[in-house]
Amino acid sequence: MVDRSPVGSLTVAGAPLRYMHRCNWKMLVENQTDTCHPMVAHESSAGTAVKIWESMEKTEDTPKPPAMEIIAPFMSPYEFFENMGIRTWPNGHGHTGVHHSIHSDYSAIPGYFESMTEAYGEDRAKEILGENRHNTVYFPNIMIKGPIQQLRNFIPLAEDKTLVESWIFRLDGAPDQLVARTAMYNRMINAPTSMVGHDDLEMYERAQEGLMADGLEWVNIQRLYEEGEDLTQEAVLNGTTERQMRNQFDAWKRFMTGGAA
Ligand SMILES: [Fe+2]
Repeated sequence: MVDRSPVGSLTVAGAPLRYMHRCNWKMLVENQTDTCHPMVAHESSAGTAVKIWESMEKTEDTPKPPAMEIIAPFMSPYEFFENMGIRTWPNGHGHTGVHHSIHSDYSAIPGYFESMTEAYGEDRAKEILGENRHNTVYFPNIMIKGPIQQLRNFIPLAEDKTLVESWIFRLDGAPDQLVARTAMYNRMINAPTSMVGHDDLEMYERAQEGLMADGLEWVNIQRLYEEGEDLTQEAVLNGTTERQMRNQFDAWKRFMTGGAA
């Protein structure tokens, strides 16, 4: 994220947006690397926005509005997320978007690549901007979106109450349009003003209610489980695996038991 500034520094841009959730904090952290929910959970919000855009009269030259560039990738098919890849590191850390991500295809901001090339040389500039991780989880409670300079802080207030802070950063020495896009992303996706955040909130709160019932003891996170899975090793896998969730719970169990479990 810091490398994306032509002068190698960031400035916090304003106060964070704060968003209360009546659910356990782990649901929010798991969700950061859950790639099978967007096209389903966000169909009525992002899906509707995409349909409206598709029905609008336009030519091939009509530019896609920045808001549409941000929201449309949420409706990408499963194959997109599978191919995007996921990386897990020991101790619950990991990130989605190894090969590409929902942030890969944003329009270029005039002057930005030029200033990056001037600062780092063309090859290094391309390398920096080619890293398009989706969500990077620093377990237990931080998530960073490098390509759009955002940090989310998940703050547990009770077993069923979690405050989320969404911070954004300005890339020093880069065009203002970048921080404008970052702020738009924060308002549209990760804030009380979000079009899609309420979809997730509704599901967290229903899941919390479900967990209060005693009908079923287990929560299933076995998607793409492999026999002999070793969470002490870094791995890069199919982007729809739930290995990263298993990784988080493995770390949590060890942290809470001093390694006894
Ligand atoms: Fe979501």
